[in-house]
Amino acid sequence: MPQNPIMTEWKSQNGDLWGETPQCLAHRLHQHELFSNEALGELIERYPREHYSLVEWGAQGRARSDWREGEISGLSGRDVIDAVSRSRVWINLRNAPAVDKRYAALLDEIFTEFEARIPGFRTLSRTMGILVSSPNSRTVYHSDLPGQSLWQIRGSKRVYVYPAVKPFLRPEHVEGIALSGVEMNMPYEPWYDDYADVFDIEPGQMLHWPLNAPHRVDNHDCLNVSMTLEYFTDEIRRTHMVTVANGIMRTKLGVTPKSREISGPSFWTKAVLQRALRNTTMVKRENKARRKPSFRLDPSRPGAIVDLPAA
Ligand SMILES: [Fe+2]
Repeated sequence: MPQNPIMTEWKSQNGDLWGETPQCLAHRLHQHELFSNEALGELIERYPREHYSLVEWGAQGRARSDWREGEISGLSGRDVIDAVSRSRVWINLRNAPAVDKRYAALLDEIFTEFEARIPGFRTLSRTMGILVSSPNSRTVYHSDLPGQSLWQIRGSKRVYVYPAVKPFLRPEHVEGIALSGVEMNMPYEPWYDDYADVFDIEPGQMLHWPLNAPHRVDNHDCLNVSMTLEYFTDEIRRTHMVTVANGIMRTKLGVTPKSREISGPSFWTKAVLQRALRNTTMVKRENKARRKPSFRLDPSRPGAIVDLPAA
């Protein structure tokens, strides 16, 4: 184990519980030099346009189509952070390791530590996103396909994590996400909250939850900086292949899938099926390319938004 571990209060049972139940764990990245205001401002300033999303958010229950995308244009990184703190937007630096090698090295360090701590844990791929979001910003009820963790760096937020079982999550939901590429639009009822694990996370806390567990997030009334890590293990990759195949069977072939096995003959048949059909019209992943920006942050009025003329 490293001399200065990233997980500061890790106990061996945390490794046994990894992925089995939601866990809130202590980390030290809120004090890391790569997450200082200076470092984040400098990162934002030179972040390539194609790698970030600046989004003006809609209310809980509103369709994803109500969101709109914008541009930073002309603000210093520190001014962008200041503008986010005064408005209703969030900026997602979607792939920091691809933009700056220091974040790639940190991502490797984090997973090297996890692989040492969690029995049998090996990742095939992983990514890091850094999310700077406004006070009271919300992320609606949804599920993600890769393994996920959410690290709080600045500010605080309430995270609801729901059981990854029916009716909160049905196989059709993950299949729909896998085939369409859209994480939102899952059915949500307010009574679901009675069955959620609810965490108010502060700087120095990290949440990890079971694969595909639905969740939603409400920022408290303060600027939030968070980091999200996504990863695939061999098991998650196989689960994803079965999900794609089952989705094709259910929606295109009219067959209700009976199994979510990730080994044996049924798995290998589905592995072949999903591979053969992935790049056909059977699997029409929504074009995840950004929509055209329709606003920008106003350099002269911190927190104000300027509509861009429609083309
Ligand atoms: Fe998520």
